[in-house]
Amino acid sequence: MEHIAVLTSGGDAPGMNAAIRAVVRTAIHEGIRVSAVYRGYQGLIDGDIEEMGPRNVANIIQRGGTILKTARCPAFFEAEGRRVAATNLSKRGIEGLIVIGGDGSFRGAHLLGEEQGVPVIGIPGTIDNDIYGTDVTIGFNTAINIALDALDRLRDTAASHDRLFLIEVMGRESGHIALYVGVAGGAEAILVPEHDTRAEHVINVILNAQKRGKTSSVIVVAEGAYQGGALELQNKIQPHCTYEVRTSILGHIQRGGSPSTRDRVLASRLGYVAVKSLLTRRAGVMVGADQRGTTHVPFIEIWNNIKVLDEELFDIASVLAI
Ligand code: F6P
Repeated sequence: MEHIAVLTSGGDAPGMNAAIRAVVRTAIHEGIRVSAVYRGYQGLIDGDIEEMGPRNVANIIQRGGTILKTARCPAFFEAEGRRVAATNLSKRGIEGLIVIGGDGSFRGAHLLGEEQGVPVIGIPGTIDNDIYGTDVTIGFNTAINIALDALDRLRDTAASHDRLFLIEVMGRESGHIALYVGVAGGAEAILVPEHDTRAEHVINVILNAQKRGKTSSVIVVAEGAYQGGALELQNKIQPHCTYEVRTSILGHIQRGGSPSTRDRVLASRLGYVAVKSLLTRRAGVMVGADQRGTTHVPFIEIWNNIKVLDEELFDIASVLAI
């Protein structure tokens, strides 16, 4: 291979820039050309592609978001969109692609490889940490640290005013962020989309906590844990609580900001490994990390398996909230 490309796709995540930097500089170190595709698969279809040099990725390792921009691109989920994308790559002599994104992005990458024969390697970049085959995704560590910092601050007000705070964190379909933030923040309860959340259960938890002498509490609610979100849950539980209940929705604040040390190191490692793997013609896989080192997981295994939550952590959180 003499020329490869890199793009970011799906929701931005802190550490994506560190991964782009690693891909570009590893490729140049290996003596091959490297191009950037802007705005994810949309840029691939539009031909928004530019060759990069090592100085193009200077001073970005510490920046959140993605300098390549990102988009969710419905056109790429049509065969015609993928055909145009492959033509745009081959016109420029680009022989392999690295996709930094989440599981939806990898589905597109898989189809591009299967239908158009483009060798593609994935790098997991999403704050949700919901990708099978890697212990952590780029952005997760930064996001949980930001959310935890917010929880700690909200706890000050909860304690000063004898309030219950519902803290809504990101995770429409997965509770990894909520679980880690909830355990680390000493939450009274942690509500996630993977579990059935009932207002009655939450009310019981609060009433029991009050009986044990608690005068304030925090509950972490993943965005997708309760129909209508944390505000709807607040409306349901407020009439049953003697506490004043308040909700704080952290939203996209969790997705921005400078990546943590862990995310920068992970992104640097995975960017480097992705290029090395592509050059040995290892394609159709995501590179990830587990306790033993780097992993290579076929795309198809990612959506045929679910990354399960660590259920023991829920027990630990409820025992420690006594
Ligand atoms: O996939 C990452 C994520 O941050 C989810 O946790 C969240 O539900 C979603 O993106 C929000 O996406 P958008 O910014 O497109 O609304």
